[in-house]
Amino acid sequence: MKVAVVGGTGDFGLALAQRLVEAGDHVVIGSRDAARAREKASEAGAFDGAANADAVRDVDLVVLAVKAEAALSTAEELAGAIGATPVLSVASELRFTKTGVHPTAGGRSIAERTQELLDAPVVAGLHSLAASSLAGGKADGDALVCGDDAAAKDLALRLAAKIVAGRALDAGPLSSARALEGMTAVIVNLNRRYKGHAGVRIVGL
Ligand SMILES: NC(=O)c1ccc[n+]([C@@H]2O[C@H](COP(=O)([O-])OP(=O)(O)OC[C@H]3O[C@@H](n4cnc5c(N)ncnc54)[C@H](OP(=O)(O)O)[C@@H]3O)[C@@H](O)[C@H]2O)c1
Repeated sequence: MKVAVVGGTGDFGLALAQRLVEAGDHVVIGSRDAARAREKASEAGAFDGAANADAVRDVDLVVLAVKAEAALSTAEELAGAIGATPVLSVASELRFTKTGVHPTAGGRSIAERTQELLDAPVVAGLHSLAASSLAGGKADGDALVCGDDAAAKDLALRLAAKIVAGRALDAGPLSSARALEGMTAVIVNLNRRYKGHAGVRIVGL
């Protein structure tokens, strides 16, 4: 699979790129700075690094892995370059307060809002996989993916299956991203309280 990881210079994107390279995928790391992208691509053993708008051309799947606050502006900026290529949104908006970590108030997920900006089908997933867990090898637990476009979701599930020790599971339509993104706040609170690296494992399937 040819995958572009936009923001692949960050902790999550780089760890994801490393796992995909190990799995034999053709990975291009994207950055706002092409030189930084090439440097990180060489660190990850990826095929190449390029400016975000170049990285997303001629790939099967674009992973939008920039920091969450920049996800929507980046999607808007890259809409033309992405065209109809499926996009996997991994972002979760979090609010850090004295009482804990909260999901952003407001009904719609980043993934749904990203979908409004792009012609491409948007799916969402991997929110429960911490960069630190992914950096050491396949992440423990299951990966949940949701989306409205069956072919795009299938691609993202195939990607997810390569990077977790558990299963890649179809969590339904794109609106499930509201829960998946919110789950990140739960996981960060668990990690803080129990000093761990929490993941998610679904039972009963
Ligand atoms: N960290 C985790 O454990 C984890 C787990 C699951 C999902 N996620 C999601 O994965 C995404 C990346 O997380 P991260 O921790 O790797 O984030 P990060 O290190 O803070 O940022 C990732 C990359 O985003 C790019 N970026 C930063 N500011 C930007 C801006 N204003 N406009 C465009 N690009 C910008 C930077 O790339 P350049 O400067 O090279 O362009 C940076 O290397 C987030 O959406 C997060 O919600 C993270």
